Amino acid sequence: MKTKYIVANWKLNPPTPREAKSLFIKLKKYSTGLKRSKIVICPPNPFLGLFDTKTGKTLSLGGQDCQVVDFGAFTGAVNPALLKYSGCSYVILGHSEVRERGDSNEMINEKVKASLKAGLKVILCVGEKKRDSQGLYLEELRLQLTEGLSRINKKDFSKIIIAYEPVWAIGVAAKSVDTPENFLHNALFIKKIIAKLAGKETALKIPILYGGSVNEKNALGFLSLGEANGLLIGRTSLDGEKFGQIVKIAESVK
Ligand code: PGA
Repeated sequence: MKTKYIVANWKLNPPTPREAKSLFIKLKKYSTGLKRSKIVICPPNPFLGLFDTKTGKTLSLGGQDCQVVDFGAFTGAVNPALLKYSGCSYVILGHSEVRERGDSNEMINEKVKASLKAGLKVILCVGEKKRDSQGLYLEELRLQLTEGLSRINKKDFSKIIIAYEPVWAIGVAAKSVDTPENFLHNALFIKKIIAKLAGKETALKIPILYGGSVNEKNALGFLSLGEANGLLIGRTSLDGEKFGQIVKIAESVK
C-alpha cells in the first residue's frame, strides 16, 4: 500500500498568527489515526515556530521554498538547514509561483540537492504553462524533471515526491481543472522519465501527487480514477472543514 500525501500549501496565508494557530489545530485534528495518508502543512516561514513540531508520523511541517546559501550575510534568505531546525521535514521546490519569480530548472536542481543534504524530503513541482493537443507540453515536463533532478543519487530518490501541477489549473485565475484521466496519463509519462534517471524500480515507487484547484468535490476522482499518490492543495487547505473532508476521502481510497 502506498501512502497518500495530502499537502497543504498555505502560500502567504492566513494573515495573522492567531488564524494560523487555529487553522493548524483544525488540520492537526484530522491527522489522528490516519492509516493510509499523511498530512504535510506548509505555512509561511514566520509561522513555523508557532506549531508543535513533535507532530507525529501522520502530520509534518514543510517549507514552501528555500535558498541555497550557508548561514551568513544573506538578507532575506532561508536555507534548508534553518527549515529543518524550525521543524520542517519537507520542502516544496519548483512551485510555479516561485518559477515565475525567476527560478530556473538549474536553480531548482541546486535547491533539491541542498535540501536533501540538509535531511529534508523534497516535493518537486512540475507542470506545463499551456496544454496543447499534440503533446508538445510533455517536453516542458521532461526538461523540468531531467534538469531539476540532475545529478541526484539514486538512493536519494526515496526522499523525493513529485507534484504534477499544470500551471493553468492553479489558483483563483485557473480557467479549469485537470481531469483524473489526463493526470494518470501525465503521471505515467513522469514515471517514464524517472525510470530513465533512476531506474524502473525507483519510478514505480516514487509518489506522484496532483495539484491545481483541488477541492472536496474533485479529490476523489484524482485519488481513485487518477491513481494519484496524494494531492497538493492551495486555497482549499485554508478551509479546515473542506480539508478534513479531503483527508477522509484519501483514507477511504485503497
Ligand atoms: P490551488 O493551488 O489549490 O489554490 O489551485 C495549488 C498550488 O498552487 O499548489
